[in-house]
Amino acid sequence: MKSLSIYQDFVETAIAAYHLPESPNNLYEPISYFLDLGGKRMRPVLALMSAELFGTPFQSAKQAALTVELFHNFTLIHDDIMDEAPLRRGKETVHTKWSENIGILSGDALLIEAYKALANHPAEQLAKLLPVFNQTASEVCEGQQWDMDFETMEMVEIDAYIKMIAYKTAVLLGCSLKMGAIVAGASNSDANDIYEFGVNLGVAFQIQDDILDVYADQNKFGKQVGGDIIANKKTFLLLKAIEAADEAQLKEIKGLVSEKDSALKIKQTKAIYAALDIKAKATDKMNEYHHKAMDNLAHIAVSDEKKLPLRELATFLLGREH
Ligand code: IPE
Ligand code: IPE
Ligand code: MG
Ligand code: MG
Ligand code: MG
Repeated sequence: MKSLSIYQDFVETAIAAYHLPESPNNLYEPISYFLDLGGKRMRPVLALMSAELFGTPFQSAKQAALTVELFHNFTLIHDDIMDEAPLRRGKETVHTKWSENIGILSGDALLIEAYKALANHPAEQLAKLLPVFNQTASEVCEGQQWDMDFETMEMVEIDAYIKMIAYKTAVLLGCSLKMGAIVAGASNSDANDIYEFGVNLGVAFQIQDDILDVYADQNKFGKQVGGDIIANKKTFLLLKAIEAADEAQLKEIKGLVSEKDSALKIKQTKAIYAALDIKAKATDKMNEYHHKAMDNLAHIAVSDEKKLPLRELATFLLGREH
């Protein structure tokens, strides 16, 4: 079995070799800066693993892998503006280091780079890849808008939250896998099954992201711990807390929305979470989606041995600290 690091190294090399123009410096340097910060490279690794799962050497999915990673980094540059996030991967975010305008335009340029990588596929592959990628890209924007809309809503149903995270985060994991399957010439049914695996894994992944946002070690996390609490994000943790709170706790949660002292807001929110056992409830939900993903994978008619890299990746992701 190829270990995770073989795929990650391949992606790292492809990103390092990715050519960007030099000028204007204020357009392209922020992109290089951001890509060089690294990250887990999970989406391109999924594309590569899926190609290999369905019988093609993983290298043949290089352009699909680049497409999803470039797209992902575009979404992060804009997400950091929208979430007013100061830190990403342990370094300053683009809009903090440069400006919001530079973040907007270099993000846009990065989205175009994603499409250029996609366009490197032969015509008959591209005809299948483009609709999958386009639908995903629209859904990511839709999910991101719900995420923003929910900030100012008092309560959001858990189902609406799950749909929001499926769109903003999980569909891109599904898309990465489906693109790898298409490159490998997999059947429609296999391509759809691996997509479903990715979506369920992605929902588990975003619930884990919500948990880490509250409980990660700041030295390892790379992002600002407590950022979701400060921004009034409707995370799984907050929604569960609202659901489980008694009258006094509910009043406190509502009052914290307008709390200006960030440290106090985080401390008091965490105290409510502790009283209501929210971390365990969120972990249960994450595991529920992890199991759904594993059921999807079991359903695919490929030997268990060939599925091992995807299982290894899923385990790595849900045990991560950043
Ligand atoms: C961050 O994604 C955005 C979310 C969907 C939670 P990752 O956690 O995959 O970010 P990097 O690329 O590894 O930094
Ligand atoms: C990220 O959601 C979703 C997209 C980038 C589309 P978050 O806002 O939770 O991601 P992080 O925590 O900033 O990485
Ligand atoms: Mg964010
Ligand atoms: Mg966000
Ligand atoms: Mg987050």
